[in-house]
Amino acid sequence: MPLPKAELHLHIEGTLEPELAFELAARNGVALPYADTDELRKAYQFEDLQSFLNLYYELMAVLRTERDFEDLANAYLARAAAQGVRHAEIFFDPQAHLARGVGMGTVVDGLWRALGGSEAEHGISTRLILCFLRDESAESALETLEAAKPYLDRITGVGLDSAEVGHPPVKFREVYEAAAALGLRRVAHAGEEGPPEYITEALDVLGVERVDHGLRCMEDPALVERLVRERIPLTLCPLSNVRLRTVDVLADHPLPAMLDAGLLCTVNSDDPAYFGGYAGDNFDAVGAALGLGEERLRELARNSFVASFLEDDEERRAR
Ligand code: ADE
Ligand code: ZN
Repeated sequence: MPLPKAELHLHIEGTLEPELAFELAARNGVALPYADTDELRKAYQFEDLQSFLNLYYELMAVLRTERDFEDLANAYLARAAAQGVRHAEIFFDPQAHLARGVGMGTVVDGLWRALGGSEAEHGISTRLILCFLRDESAESALETLEAAKPYLDRITGVGLDSAEVGHPPVKFREVYEAAAALGLRRVAHAGEEGPPEYITEALDVLGVERVDHGLRCMEDPALVERLVRERIPLTLCPLSNVRLRTVDVLADHPLPAMLDAGLLCTVNSDDPAYFGGYAGDNFDAVGAALGLGEERLRELARNSFVASFLEDDEERRAR
Protein backbone atom coordinates (compact mmCIF):
# COMPACT_ATOMS: atom_id res chain seq x y z
CA MET A 1 0.00 0.00 0.00
CA PRO A 2 1.49 3.39 -0.98
CA LEU A 3 1.68 6.02 1.78
CA PRO A 4 -1.42 8.27 1.86
CA LYS A 5 -0.28 11.70 0.74
CA ALA A 6 -1.43 15.08 -0.56
CA GLU A 7 -0.07 16.52 -3.79
CA LEU A 8 0.36 20.29 -3.61
CA HIS A 9 2.41 21.08 -6.72
CA LEU A 10 0.87 19.65 -9.85
CA HIS A 11 0.21 21.41 -13.16
CA ILE A 12 -2.76 19.67 -14.74
CA GLU A 13 -1.43 20.49 -18.22
CA GLY A 14 1.79 18.74 -17.21
CA THR A 15 -0.09 15.46 -16.78
CA LEU A 16 -0.78 15.22 -20.52
CA GLU A 17 0.73 11.85 -21.45
CA PRO A 18 1.81 11.34 -25.09
CA GLU A 19 -0.94 8.75 -25.70
CA LEU A 20 -3.67 11.14 -24.57
CA ALA A 21 -2.05 14.01 -26.53
CA PHE A 22 -2.36 11.97 -29.75
CA GLU A 23 -5.89 10.85 -28.89
CA LEU A 24 -7.02 14.46 -28.33
CA ALA A 25 -5.14 15.65 -31.44
CA ALA A 26 -7.08 13.12 -33.54
CA ARG A 27 -10.39 14.00 -31.85
CA ASN A 28 -9.90 17.73 -32.47
CA GLY A 29 -8.19 17.60 -35.87
CA VAL A 30 -5.00 19.17 -34.50
CA ALA A 31 -1.74 18.29 -36.29
CA LEU A 32 1.18 17.52 -33.98
CA PRO A 33 4.72 17.89 -35.38
CA TYR A 34 5.65 14.38 -34.15
CA ALA A 35 5.06 11.13 -36.05
CA ASP A 36 4.02 9.11 -33.00
CA THR A 37 4.31 8.82 -29.22
CA ASP A 38 7.86 7.40 -29.44
CA GLU A 39 9.05 10.39 -31.43
CA LEU A 40 7.29 12.73 -29.02
CA ARG A 41 8.89 11.04 -26.00
CA LYS A 42 12.31 11.53 -27.62
CA ALA A 43 11.69 15.29 -27.43
CA TYR A 44 11.59 15.05 -23.60
CA GLN A 45 15.23 16.04 -23.18
CA PHE A 46 15.38 19.37 -21.40
CA GLU A 47 18.26 21.80 -20.93
CA ASP A 48 16.44 24.03 -18.48
CA LEU A 49 12.98 25.30 -17.52
CA GLN A 50 12.46 27.22 -20.78
CA SER A 51 13.22 24.26 -23.05
CA PHE A 52 10.55 22.29 -21.17
CA LEU A 53 8.04 25.15 -21.26
CA ASN A 54 8.36 25.37 -25.05
CA LEU A 55 7.12 21.78 -25.43
CA TYR A 56 4.59 22.11 -22.59
CA TYR A 57 2.88 25.07 -24.30
CA GLU A 58 3.12 23.49 -27.76
CA LEU A 59 1.32 20.31 -26.71
CA MET A 60 -1.51 22.25 -25.06
CA ALA A 61 -2.82 22.88 -28.60
CA VAL A 62 -4.71 19.56 -28.35
CA LEU A 63 -6.80 20.77 -25.37
CA ARG A 64 -9.87 22.44 -26.84
CA THR A 65 -13.16 21.29 -25.29
CA GLU A 66 -14.63 20.76 -21.83
CA ARG A 67 -14.42 17.03 -22.46
CA ASP A 68 -10.68 17.30 -23.16
CA PHE A 69 -10.07 18.97 -19.78
CA GLU A 70 -12.32 16.43 -18.08
CA ASP A 71 -10.44 13.51 -19.66
CA LEU A 72 -7.09 15.07 -18.75
CA ALA A 73 -8.07 15.52 -15.10
CA ASN A 74 -9.64 12.05 -14.82
CA ALA A 75 -6.49 10.44 -16.23
CA TYR A 76 -4.39 12.28 -13.63
CA LEU A 77 -6.72 11.43 -10.74
CA ALA A 78 -6.72 7.72 -11.62
CA ARG A 79 -2.90 7.60 -11.69
CA ALA A 80 -2.59 9.68 -8.53
CA ALA A 81 -5.06 7.46 -6.63
CA ALA A 82 -3.00 4.39 -7.53
CA GLN A 83 0.02 6.09 -5.93
CA GLY A 84 -1.68 6.94 -2.64
CA VAL A 85 -2.72 10.55 -3.33
CA ARG A 86 -5.75 11.39 -1.15
CA HIS A 87 -5.85 15.13 -1.75
CA ALA A 88 -4.63 17.21 -4.72
CA GLU A 89 -4.26 20.98 -5.07
CA ILE A 90 -4.16 21.38 -8.82
CA PHE A 91 -2.64 24.25 -10.81
CA PHE A 92 -3.99 25.34 -14.16
CA ASP A 93 -2.72 27.96 -16.63
CA PRO A 94 -5.76 29.76 -18.10
CA GLN A 95 -3.73 32.35 -20.04
CA ALA A 96 -2.18 29.61 -22.16
CA HIS A 97 -5.69 28.49 -23.14
CA LEU A 98 -7.28 31.93 -23.50
CA ALA A 99 -4.49 32.78 -25.97
CA ARG A 100 -5.71 29.89 -28.16
CA GLY A 101 -9.33 31.01 -27.99
CA VAL A 102 -10.30 28.46 -25.32
CA GLY A 103 -12.39 30.28 -22.72
CA MET A 104 -12.11 30.27 -18.93
CA GLY A 105 -15.51 28.52 -18.74
CA THR A 106 -14.37 25.66 -20.99
CA VAL A 107 -11.31 25.09 -18.82
CA VAL A 108 -12.91 25.40 -15.37
CA ASP A 109 -16.18 23.62 -16.24
CA GLY A 110 -14.24 20.84 -17.98
CA LEU A 111 -11.84 20.33 -15.09
CA TRP A 112 -14.73 20.48 -12.64
CA ARG A 113 -16.56 17.66 -14.45
CA ALA A 114 -13.71 15.47 -13.18
CA LEU A 115 -12.86 17.22 -9.89
CA GLY A 116 -16.49 17.46 -8.77
CA GLY A 117 -16.78 13.68 -8.74
CA SER A 118 -13.24 12.95 -7.64
CA GLU A 119 -13.92 12.05 -3.99
CA ALA A 120 -16.53 9.49 -4.99
CA GLU A 121 -14.72 8.25 -8.10
CA HIS A 122 -11.05 8.31 -7.04
CA GLY A 123 -11.06 8.89 -3.26
CA ILE A 124 -9.21 12.19 -3.78
CA SER A 125 -10.39 15.57 -2.49
CA THR A 126 -9.28 18.47 -4.66
CA ARG A 127 -8.67 22.20 -4.80
CA LEU A 128 -8.07 24.30 -7.91
CA ILE A 129 -5.34 26.98 -8.06
CA LEU A 130 -5.31 29.46 -10.93
CA CYS A 131 -1.76 30.34 -11.98
CA PHE A 132 -0.65 33.55 -13.67
CA LEU A 133 2.09 33.22 -16.28
CA ARG A 134 4.92 35.40 -14.99
CA ASP A 135 6.37 35.95 -18.48
CA GLU A 136 3.10 37.63 -19.47
CA SER A 137 2.30 41.19 -18.38
CA ALA A 138 0.85 42.29 -15.05
CA GLU A 139 -2.15 43.66 -17.00
CA SER A 140 -2.80 40.25 -18.53
CA ALA A 141 -2.77 38.71 -15.03
CA LEU A 142 -5.34 41.28 -13.87
CA GLU A 143 -7.54 40.53 -16.91
CA THR A 144 -7.25 36.82 -16.16
CA LEU A 145 -8.37 37.30 -12.56
CA GLU A 146 -11.30 39.35 -13.86
CA ALA A 147 -12.23 36.55 -16.31
CA ALA A 148 -12.13 34.08 -13.40
CA LYS A 149 -14.62 36.00 -11.23
CA PRO A 150 -17.69 33.98 -12.35
CA TYR A 151 -15.86 30.77 -11.35
CA LEU A 152 -14.50 31.69 -7.93
CA ASP A 153 -16.78 29.20 -6.17
CA ARG A 154 -14.50 26.52 -7.63
CA ILE A 155 -11.12 28.27 -7.32
CA THR A 156 -9.31 28.18 -3.98
CA GLY A 157 -6.21 30.20 -4.73
CA VAL A 158 -3.80 31.81 -7.13
CA GLY A 159 -0.25 30.88 -8.08
CA LEU A 160 2.56 32.15 -10.28
CA ASP A 161 4.44 29.98 -12.76
CA SER A 162 6.29 29.83 -16.13
CA ALA A 163 9.73 31.39 -16.88
CA GLU A 164 11.04 32.68 -13.56
CA VAL A 165 14.31 34.54 -14.14
CA GLY A 166 13.72 38.18 -15.10
CA HIS A 167 10.11 38.08 -13.84
CA PRO A 168 10.33 38.83 -10.11
CA PRO A 169 7.28 38.48 -7.86
CA VAL A 170 6.98 42.26 -7.39
CA LYS A 171 5.67 42.50 -10.97
CA PHE A 172 2.45 40.86 -9.70
CA ARG A 173 1.87 42.87 -6.52
CA GLU A 174 -1.42 44.35 -7.71
CA VAL A 175 -3.04 41.13 -8.90
CA TYR A 176 -2.08 39.33 -5.66
CA GLU A 177 -3.59 42.18 -3.63
CA ALA A 178 -6.77 41.85 -5.70
CA ALA A 179 -6.77 38.05 -5.22
CA ALA A 180 -6.35 38.44 -1.45
CA ALA A 181 -9.27 40.90 -1.37
CA LEU A 182 -11.39 38.22 -3.08
CA GLY A 183 -10.51 35.77 -0.32
CA LEU A 184 -8.22 33.63 -2.46
CA ARG A 185 -5.26 31.74 -0.99
CA ARG A 186 -1.82 32.65 -2.39
CA VAL A 187 1.17 30.58 -3.49
CA ALA A 188 3.95 31.25 -6.04
CA HIS A 189 6.81 29.45 -7.72
CA ALA A 190 10.03 31.00 -6.41
CA GLY A 191 13.62 29.88 -6.13
CA GLU A 192 13.34 27.16 -8.78
CA GLU A 193 15.75 28.83 -11.22
CA GLY A 194 15.42 32.29 -9.72
CA PRO A 195 17.50 33.64 -6.82
CA PRO A 196 16.62 33.44 -3.09
CA GLU A 197 15.57 37.13 -3.22
CA TYR A 198 12.52 36.05 -5.27
CA ILE A 199 11.44 33.83 -2.36
CA THR A 200 11.70 36.72 0.09
CA GLU A 201 9.79 38.94 -2.32
CA ALA A 202 7.04 36.34 -2.80
CA LEU A 203 6.58 36.29 0.99
CA ASP A 204 6.83 40.03 1.62
CA VAL A 205 5.20 41.49 -1.47
CA LEU A 206 2.75 38.80 -2.61
CA GLY A 207 1.93 37.44 0.84
CA VAL A 208 2.24 33.81 -0.22
CA GLU A 209 1.42 31.13 2.35
CA ARG A 210 3.44 28.44 0.59
CA VAL A 211 6.42 28.54 -1.76
CA ASP A 212 6.50 26.29 -4.84
CA HIS A 213 9.98 24.79 -5.21
CA GLY A 214 11.91 27.26 -3.01
CA LEU A 215 14.99 25.11 -3.58
CA ARG A 216 17.42 28.02 -3.77
CA CYS A 217 16.57 29.19 -0.24
CA MET A 218 19.51 26.99 0.74
CA GLU A 219 21.87 29.71 -0.57
CA ASP A 220 20.65 32.12 2.12
CA PRO A 221 20.90 30.89 5.75
CA ALA A 222 18.88 33.85 7.10
CA LEU A 223 16.06 33.00 4.69
CA VAL A 224 16.13 29.33 5.74
CA GLU A 225 15.88 30.46 9.36
CA ARG A 226 12.88 32.61 8.51
CA LEU A 227 11.10 29.85 6.55
CA VAL A 228 11.62 27.50 9.50
CA ARG A 229 10.48 30.08 12.05
CA GLU A 230 7.36 31.02 10.08
CA ARG A 231 6.59 27.40 9.16
CA ILE A 232 6.31 28.27 5.45
CA PRO A 233 5.83 25.05 3.47
CA LEU A 234 7.95 24.34 0.39
CA THR A 235 6.52 22.17 -2.39
CA LEU A 236 9.59 20.40 -3.73
CA CYS A 237 9.58 18.41 -6.97
CA PRO A 238 12.71 16.23 -7.00
CA LEU A 239 12.33 14.45 -10.37
CA SER A 240 11.47 17.79 -11.99
CA ASN A 241 14.65 19.36 -10.56
CA VAL A 242 16.79 16.65 -12.16
CA ARG A 243 15.02 16.78 -15.55
CA LEU A 244 15.26 20.59 -15.65
CA ARG A 245 18.85 20.45 -14.43
CA THR A 246 18.53 22.58 -11.34
CA VAL A 247 20.05 19.54 -9.60
CA ASP A 248 22.64 17.37 -11.41
CA VAL A 249 21.56 13.98 -10.09
CA LEU A 250 18.95 12.96 -7.56
CA ALA A 251 21.62 11.78 -5.10
CA ASP A 252 22.72 15.45 -4.86
CA HIS A 253 19.23 16.76 -4.07
CA PRO A 254 19.25 19.03 -0.98
CA LEU A 255 16.05 17.49 0.44
CA PRO A 256 17.82 15.72 3.37
CA ALA A 257 19.68 18.93 4.28
CA MET A 258 16.42 20.88 4.02
CA LEU A 259 14.65 18.46 6.37
CA ASP A 260 17.62 18.56 8.76
CA ALA A 261 17.39 22.37 8.74
CA GLY A 262 13.80 22.05 9.96
CA LEU A 263 12.09 23.21 6.76
CA LEU A 264 8.50 22.08 6.17
CA CYS A 265 9.21 20.18 2.94
CA THR A 266 6.72 18.31 0.78
CA VAL A 267 7.40 16.07 -2.24
CA ASN A 268 5.36 16.52 -5.42
CA SER A 269 5.45 15.73 -9.13
CA ASP A 270 5.13 19.14 -10.92
CA ASP A 271 4.61 17.89 -14.51
CA PRO A 272 4.64 14.10 -14.16
CA ALA A 273 4.02 13.24 -17.83
CA TYR A 274 7.23 15.06 -18.72
CA PHE A 275 9.50 14.36 -15.76
CA GLY A 276 9.23 10.60 -15.38
CA GLY A 277 6.99 10.13 -12.40
CA TYR A 278 3.86 10.85 -10.38
CA ALA A 279 3.77 11.64 -6.64
CA GLY A 280 4.44 8.10 -5.45
CA ASP A 281 7.29 7.74 -7.97
CA ASN A 282 8.88 10.89 -6.50
CA PHE A 283 8.59 9.44 -2.98
CA ASP A 284 10.14 6.14 -4.13
CA ALA A 285 12.92 7.91 -6.03
CA VAL A 286 14.00 10.14 -3.12
CA GLY A 287 13.77 7.18 -0.75
CA ALA A 288 16.14 5.17 -2.91
CA ALA A 289 18.55 7.89 -4.11
CA LEU A 290 18.83 9.78 -0.82
CA GLY A 291 18.58 6.84 1.57
CA LEU A 292 15.48 8.24 3.28
CA GLY A 293 13.98 5.62 5.57
CA GLU A 294 10.34 4.89 6.35
CA GLU A 295 10.24 7.51 9.13
CA ARG A 296 11.43 10.35 6.87
CA LEU A 297 9.01 9.35 4.11
CA ARG A 298 6.17 9.32 6.64
CA GLU A 299 7.25 12.79 7.80
CA LEU A 300 7.06 14.01 4.18
CA ALA A 301 3.59 12.51 3.75
CA ARG A 302 2.45 14.08 7.04
CA ASN A 303 3.86 17.45 5.95
CA SER A 304 1.84 17.30 2.74
CA PHE A 305 -1.43 17.32 4.71
CA VAL A 306 -0.21 19.96 7.17
CA ALA A 307 0.82 22.21 4.27
CA SER A 308 -2.45 21.72 2.38
CA PHE A 309 -5.40 24.10 2.31
CA LEU A 310 -7.64 21.46 3.89
CA GLU A 311 -9.49 22.43 7.05
CA ASP A 312 -8.45 20.42 10.15
CA ASP A 313 -11.42 18.05 10.04
CA GLU A 314 -11.01 17.44 6.30
CA GLU A 315 -7.28 16.86 6.84
CA ARG A 316 -7.95 14.17 9.44
CA ARG A 317 -10.35 12.39 7.09
CA ALA A 318 -7.93 12.53 4.14
CA ARG A 319 -4.87 11.11 5.93
N1 ADE B 1 4.82 25.44 -15.47
C1 ADE B 1 4.71 24.11 -15.48
N2 ADE B 1 5.71 23.56 -14.78
C2 ADE B 1 6.48 24.58 -14.30
C3 ADE B 1 7.62 24.66 -13.49
N3 ADE B 1 8.26 23.59 -13.02
N4 ADE B 1 8.15 25.88 -13.23
C4 ADE B 1 7.53 26.96 -13.68
N5 ADE B 1 6.45 26.94 -14.44
C5 ADE B 1 5.90 25.76 -14.75
ZN1 ZN C 1 5.63 23.85 -11.05
